[in-house]
Amino acid sequence: MVVDDETMITTTLSTMFKLMMKENVIAYNDVEQALNCNELINNQVDLIISDFMMPKMNGLEFLKNVREKCPNTVTILLTGYADKENAIRSINEIGLYYYLEKPWNNNDMIKVVKNGLEKKELEDDLRKKYDELEQSNHEITRLYELLKHDYNTETESSKNLIITLANVIEAKDKYTDGHTRRVGMLSRMLGDRLGLEEDRLNQLEIAGIIHDIGKVGVPENILNKPDRLTEEEFDIIKKHTEIGETIIKPLGSLRDCIGPVRSHHEKLNGSGYPDGLKSEEINMETRILAVADIFDALYSDRPYRARMSIEEAKEILAKDVRNGCLDIRVVDALYELLAEDGLAQVFK
Ligand SMILES: [Fe+2]
Repeated sequence: MVVDDETMITTTLSTMFKLMMKENVIAYNDVEQALNCNELINNQVDLIISDFMMPKMNGLEFLKNVREKCPNTVTILLTGYADKENAIRSINEIGLYYYLEKPWNNNDMIKVVKNGLEKKELEDDLRKKYDELEQSNHEITRLYELLKHDYNTETESSKNLIITLANVIEAKDKYTDGHTRRVGMLSRMLGDRLGLEEDRLNQLEIAGIIHDIGKVGVPENILNKPDRLTEEEFDIIKKHTEIGETIIKPLGSLRDCIGPVRSHHEKLNGSGYPDGLKSEEINMETRILAVADIFDALYSDRPYRARMSIEEAKEILAKDVRNGCLDIRVVDALYELLAEDGLAQVFK
């Protein structure tokens, strides 16, 4: 939106933005009309450039009014040289994005408007993601209550509960078809080979099945994004470890799964998440689950790539051992299983 009492200025600016930036522009020569227009009332204006000296109301007052109605609209003040000091003082007061002096330089003007629009788009996007996350949190709470109720009234069904949890993850994340079941089985086989007792093996298998349950708290558009994730999106994905812990914490029977669920992306050298734990702080179950999780991800088809060969997957795991990420004993146990063709029942 362009607001200036001089028609020549609104026309020049409108034409420039339309021609050079292909933007939709609305222009007003009367501040009151601008303030009462439908676009502002419906919060559809991304950015406003307003003149300072205008009859009825000066630009700062006008933008102050805009801020109350549409706090997310980016505001730019166009001032004459004499008003410069006033404008600078007001930047903080009304949250002005920028001020430009008359006569302006067209390139500067376009650059400022472009940056302002980009800022608005990023902020809108971020707000949308927060809303989605909040929505997912409501879903989790609801699921949580359902599960708690289910568990209390029907302890017998705890196995079904775990299957349900696994189904919840798989329904949400289209890249993990069968992944949780296989990670559960593979973790159990590795644990067995490494000498864990039956009780621990049972818990480890369950931990494998539910390790990614926290993904219910990650917006689907991020989870299923086929392209490279931005740093900010990756940070949201990383939250699934902590959300997973929150979900299973009230279930006493899953007490021993809490560590592996929260810490399955930790690395022995401290470079993992969410806590950057180091070797002695990561228990054997969690180390096993990490190897099973990575191997299955490499050795299964994904919508964006075919499965790797066993040799390629082994090479990546060996590199992870050399880099101090994975436990060599667990990776060796996996190599033994592979050499004996012991994984046929997992990857059928
Ligand atoms: Fe995970």
